[in-house]
Amino acid sequence: MDQKRIYNHKKISQDYAKRDYLDKAEIRIIEDLRNLLPKFNMLDMGVGGGRTTRYFLPMVNSYIGADYAPNMIAQCKKKFKNKKIFEVLDVRNMDKFSNNMFDFVLFSYNGIDSFDLKDRDIALKEIKRVLRNDGYFSFSSHNINWEGLYGLFKIENIYEKLINKSHLPDSGKSAKNIFLKFIIFLKAILINIRLNIKNKSFNIKFHINSLRKNGFGSLADNSLNGKVSIIYTSYKSQIKKLENLGFINISAYSVNGIKTTDENELNKGGWIYYLCQIKK
Ligand SMILES: C[S@@+](CC[C@H](N)C(=O)[O-])C[C@H]1O[C@@H](n2cnc3c(N)ncnc32)[C@H](O)[C@@H]1O
Repeated sequence: MDQKRIYNHKKISQDYAKRDYLDKAEIRIIEDLRNLLPKFNMLDMGVGGGRTTRYFLPMVNSYIGADYAPNMIAQCKKKFKNKKIFEVLDVRNMDKFSNNMFDFVLFSYNGIDSFDLKDRDIALKEIKRVLRNDGYFSFSSHNINWEGLYGLFKIENIYEKLINKSHLPDSGKSAKNIFLKFIIFLKAILINIRLNIKNKSFNIKFHINSLRKNGFGSLADNSLNGKVSIIYTSYKSQIKKLENLGFINISAYSVNGIKTTDENELNKGGWIYYLCQIKK
């Protein structure tokens, strides 16, 4: 299924608009940029329902939130009662913005993993173009070496996630409740089968291990109901890609908010957060 259609779904955009927190790593990145932010003209790319807007908007010199899903932007305009700072725009084609226009581009919450590797390159080049020399880029990305990755595909974990979403009472022993739990269990089995088919592998460990050898690859991982594939990368291959494009001073942050080069720490999380600068 087309990812844009999923993100543009009214219910999904409404769900994103309810989010208002920052992750530990994002708080740490803000701390690291604290003295620079007041001077920054910032582009918050893939802004979704404006989760990060509330924090960055008051901190920076100028702010634009952009997203290719019109319903996400509609949610932002409603939430912040501000129509001027939000734009419907695809990161892969930012013709609307001139070269060197921004001091800081953020692409939070793994938005950059939404498209294939070829488009990821196009997106990174566009981000490079709109950033001024020495401008900052921060994003997070799915981690192929996450130690908990196999767990995402286990039927019991898929079941658990569905149960949490369903809000069924835990202790409910009524016939209706038992029946609903049985249906959810069948759904978990079907999702597991769908993930295997989408990943073209009934041995998910083997599939993940082959992606780990490459350092990156595409994985249907049960996010967005397992309907789409997502790019996963290793820390090392992400660094290499950024360096090849001219990014320097690359820092990585673990899900625990720790700035580190220690892969054991980074691999504790399904996501790695990056902050870097472009040298033109
Ligand atoms: C996982 S959501 C994160 C939303 C928001 N940044 C947050 O942290 O809550 C990813 C967002 O990236 C947007 N996105 C994905 N591909 C995009 C593209 N090519 N251009 C612009 N936005 C894109 C999606 O519409 C979605 O809103």
